[in-house]
This record gives sequence, C-alpha cells and structure tokens, in this order.
Amino acid sequence: MRVLVTGGAGFIGSNLVDALVARGDEVVVLDDLSTGKRENLAAAGDRARLIVGSVADAEAVEAAAAGCELIYHEAAIASVQRTVETPLDTNLVNLGGTLNVLEAARAVGARRVVFAGSAATYGDNPDMPLRETATPRPLSPYAIEKLASEQYVRVWAELFGLETVTLRYFNVFGPRQDPGSPYSGVISIFVDRLLRGQVPTIFGDGGQTRDFVYVADVVQANLLAGTQPGISGRVFNIAGGGQTSLLELYGHLRDLIGGPERPAFAEARAGDIRHSLADIAAARAALGYAPSVPVAVGLSRLVDAVRASR
Ligand code: NAD
Ligand code: UD1
Repeated sequence: MRVLVTGGAGFIGSNLVDALVARGDEVVVLDDLSTGKRENLAAAGDRARLIVGSVADAEAVEAAAAGCELIYHEAAIASVQRTVETPLDTNLVNLGGTLNVLEAARAVGARRVVFAGSAATYGDNPDMPLRETATPRPLSPYAIEKLASEQYVRVWAELFGLETVTLRYFNVFGPRQDPGSPYSGVISIFVDRLLRGQVPTIFGDGGQTRDFVYVADVVQANLLAGTQPGISGRVFNIAGGGQTSLLELYGHLRDLIGGPERPAFAEARAGDIRHSLADIAAARAALGYAPSVPVAVGLSRLVDAVRASR
C-alpha cells in the first residue's frame, strides 16, 4: 500500500515511517525540514521518498498524496512557545495544514486519514485519568489548533465519508526526539545533559507527574488506527497509562547513565500542569492498543540509541 506521512522526517513521523517500510509499504514523506531531518529517513532507505514542501501549500499536499490509500498527518509546529509568539503563522500550518490534508485526501480518493492530536487539548483538567469525553480546555494557540483540527477531522468523516481517526498523544519519548530547545520533551533534555556530564534542572519540586509513552507504542497505535475497521470519526488517547514523577524519572536516568544524586532545581514553570494521566481504555477496546514498553525499559532503549548515535 502507498502511504503518505506528513512530518515524516520528524521524531514520531520517522519512527512511523520505519515501521511502515518494515511491513512492506511504499511511503511518501511530505516535510519542510523545519525541525525534521533528512538523516531521520536514512534507515528507511529508498522505500521512503521525501518531498520537501509545506502542508500549508494545498497543491504540494495534493501532489504528495497522489496514489496514497492512507495518510498519517504528523506535520505540525510542535513548539507551544512558537504558537504563542506567532499564532497567525502557526495557525496556517497547524490548522490550515490539517484542512489541506483532508481536502487532498478527498481529491485523491484516499481511504483514511490518521491525525496526530495532543493531550494539550485537555488543558489543566484535574479529573484524572483523562477520558476522551472530558470537556477540552485549550490553554495555548497550539492546543486550539490541535482541537480545531480534530473537529475538522471528525466532521470530514461525517460530511464526506472519508475515514478519519485522531490520536491524542500524551508525553512521547524515544530516539530522534530533539533536545535542542528548552521546550523540548523533558526526557530528551535530561538524557542529553546527563550524557554530556551536565546536571539537569527540575522546574519545581519534581513531584509533578506525566504519562510518558515510548515512541514504539505510539507507532503501534498508528498502525492499528490505520487498519482497524469501525473507528472512523473517533478520538483516542495514546499514552502509557501510568504516572511517572520527574524525581522518579531522574532516578531511572541516573541508574542508567550516572550523575549527581540530586539534580538542580529551579522555580516551577508558569502554567505548568501538575499531573497528567490518560485513560487508555478506549484505545485498548477499539484499536487493540496495548502499550508494551514500560517507561524504565523505554528509557534504557533511548539511552542506548543516543549513545550509539554519538
Ligand atoms: P517534530 O518536530 O519532530 O515533528 C514534526 C515534523 O513536522 C518535523 O519533521 C517538521 O519538519 C515537520 N513540519 C513542521 N512544519 C511543517 C510544514 N509546514 N510542512 C511540512 N512539514 C512540517 O515533532 P514530533 O514530536 O515528532 O511531533 C509529531 C506530531 O505529534 C506533531 O503533530 C505534534 O504536534 C504531535 N504531538 C507530539 C507530542 C510529543 O510528545 N512529541 C505530543 C502530542 C502531540
Ligand atoms: C507537554 C507538551 C506540550 C503540551 C503539554 C500539554 C512536549 C515537549 N510538550 O508539555 O506541547 O502543551 O504537554 O499537557 O511534549 N521540565 C523540567 N526540566 C526541563 C524540562 C521540563 O523540570 O528541563 C518539566 C516541566 O516543567 C514539566 C515536565 O518536565 O513539569 C514535562 O515537561 P515537557 O516535557 O516540556 O512536557 P509538558 O510540560 O508536559
């Protein structure tokens, strides 16, 4: 089958591309390489064809989608900070890009679109574990763009009979996640610092928790969401289904890499969410999703991969 992965040169997208190629698919990647990298597609070899272009360009999206049966829409400006600073620009990519993908899917007669949503759409909701039915309360332009995209994705299934699915990712971690900015995923930053012999900083007391999910499980969820019948129009949380505090996280990484007994501490980030935990029952029941990589195991795999790449 021919599959389009927008954002396929990025962290999650490229891990998905590898899995699609491994099962024999022919993959087209549309990516503007703004945060993605060509080298992330090296492992996929010539079974993945990269088209450098933007999802904000409707013609480029339709050209990339030609002949594709299935479309994974992973491309986005994933930096919350950037969406706060330049919402007009990020809306064109994060919302406009989604609409372009849906319209391209219709134009080329694709069967299904799977969209990368975000737990950010929940905002700071104390009602844990978070279920898909919770009232969304976006707290950033990023979260609004993801929520509005989800609505387009759902309505395109109802209006046009296109099969569509949204996966709301929680805190994803794994190889190829870029530690380059202060707003990168905390695990990528901590691993990078510890391997350089630097001391990571915990913002706040370290008691905050996240529902971390290893990228291989996110890939598993995407493969299932691409094929499972009877799920069109639905939204699923994709997470590990457990809570890990930052202090626990630091402890695991210290066991794997070494480092000082205590990290550095700094003032809590403004607007930081205290706890995050997903209810993944819907994904288990409807997709057959079963996270298989516990956080400690994923951390060990990540550290091995980062060491090997240096
Ligand atoms: P990433 O930045 O590594 O990947 C995004 C990819 O999209 C990059 O390759 C980038 O170059 C590409 N891209 C950006 N703007 C583009 C444009 N205009 N046209 C074409 N390509 C463009 O980030 P990621 O963590 O792999 O995120 C993948 C998706 O998952 C994003 O939609 C993100 O919002 C979503 N998400 C990620 C997480 C997480 O924990 N990493 C959590 C929730 C949702
Ligand atoms: C994540 C998403 C964000 C989304 C939010 C919704 C990522 C990278 N970010 O943010 O897009 O809006 O979920 O809930 O996936 N921390 C440190 N030290 C560091 C870096 C981070 O202590 O050097 C802390 C943060 O303050 C936070 C926790 O680690 O408490 C996790 O941070 P981060 O990985 O940035 O993710 P979220 O804040 O959950």
